[in-house]
Amino acid sequence: MDKVLVVGSGGREHALVWKLSQSPRVKKVYCAPGNAGIAEIAECVNIKADDIYKLREFAKFERINLTVVGPEAPLSRGIVDAFRKEGLRAFGPSKDAAQLESSKQFAKDFMRTYGIPTAEYKVFNSYIQAEEYVRLMGAPIVIKADGLAAGKGVFVCATFEEAVDALKRIMRNREFGDAGDTVVVEQCLVGEEASFMAISDGEVFVPLASSQDHKRIFDGDRGPNTGGMGAYSPAPIVDEKLTAEVMETVMYPVLNGMKKEGIVFKGVLYAGLMICNGKPFVLEFNCRFGDPETQPILSRLDSDLFELMNASIDGTLSEVLPVWKEKASVCVVMAAGGYPGRYENGKVISGLDEAARMEDVMVFHAGTAQDDGNVVTAGGRVLGVTAIGDDIAGAIKRAYEATDVISWDGAQYRKDIGARALKK
Ligand code: AMP
Ligand code: GLY
Repeated sequence: MDKVLVVGSGGREHALVWKLSQSPRVKKVYCAPGNAGIAEIAECVNIKADDIYKLREFAKFERINLTVVGPEAPLSRGIVDAFRKEGLRAFGPSKDAAQLESSKQFAKDFMRTYGIPTAEYKVFNSYIQAEEYVRLMGAPIVIKADGLAAGKGVFVCATFEEAVDALKRIMRNREFGDAGDTVVVEQCLVGEEASFMAISDGEVFVPLASSQDHKRIFDGDRGPNTGGMGAYSPAPIVDEKLTAEVMETVMYPVLNGMKKEGIVFKGVLYAGLMICNGKPFVLEFNCRFGDPETQPILSRLDSDLFELMNASIDGTLSEVLPVWKEKASVCVVMAAGGYPGRYENGKVISGLDEAARMEDVMVFHAGTAQDDGNVVTAGGRVLGVTAIGDDIAGAIKRAYEATDVISWDGAQYRKDIGARALKK
């Protein structure tokens, strides 16, 4: 019987812990650092997700059989390489492979080299040259901080003034620190977005169930981008034909391009897509499970996730096919008032017990902590209220029945998660 360590503390990690602990081969699950919800089903360990050295010592000491890394920061700093060096099994990409996410410039140049469809772009290190280029191209235009910015370093600008403001925030005010030393200025694509995730073992890719995310803070896709305010699976726009096209024009070209660069890609590749007139274009790559997409996706997974991850490490994925429930799942993110800007922690959350008793509902915790017997808010995205239904409409109804019973001072959430899918 095996021991598993999940690294991270968000809703995605709660879902990973929840699914992994269902495996008949898993005896015990640890999570570092975890949150109040994860603590109910796993042993939380007080080590930060980016403290690679301590995590490795812990995994060695506890003889962990599989470490699963949720967030991008430790992946981009080489946690998987560090574990492998010590003979420890870790699911995810190497540091080199994770550059597809950690540097937008690397990703864009890689896509250009290997003919992967993406928006036209130019890269700048100088504010003045970037502003000049934006003036030349005109709006709408997209400005992206090169490095990791928790999903907040991208600005879709409708006017020249907005674009200048974005450039100033990234390059002059350095709101994203070093991540903003370089900016990518990109053509604005119009279409429908979808999240496409697949697992690789370095040789083959196995697609996961399709999903769609809601990045903006307000209903109707208004307001600033966030880490994600909700998601649903499946996404009707990702039909069989589109799946085949994404595998052929995006996923395998990544795997083969990586090989040419001398890099083996293992783990999850997440392509944020814009579907323009039926054709997929890549907006971004992530080298990890999406958050919140993972919550609805794993709620639909019937197979053993532990087995799937081991097959990725061992290079035996072609022998494993994930099986999905013929159901729909919707995750509504409940966030702290003020998010994605400033917000307060420590608000007491009520209604969690009642929600936990509801059938077909799973409340994944993101930013929560235990305080004096209460569960309190401890982050911007606080909960991912996830429900399963026979179809999207049923799942939406159920998810909102659950959000109705949960509350805290200042809680906010979108009321239109999944509505887009209903229009299909
Ligand atoms: P990213 O982190 O690169 O996925 O960007 C975050 C969000 O910004 C995406 O989900 C899109 O909604 C939007 N976005 C990014 N790039 C573009 C683009 N080239 N055209 C239009 N929208 C974009
Ligand atoms: N939901 C978008 C992300 O995980 O980056």
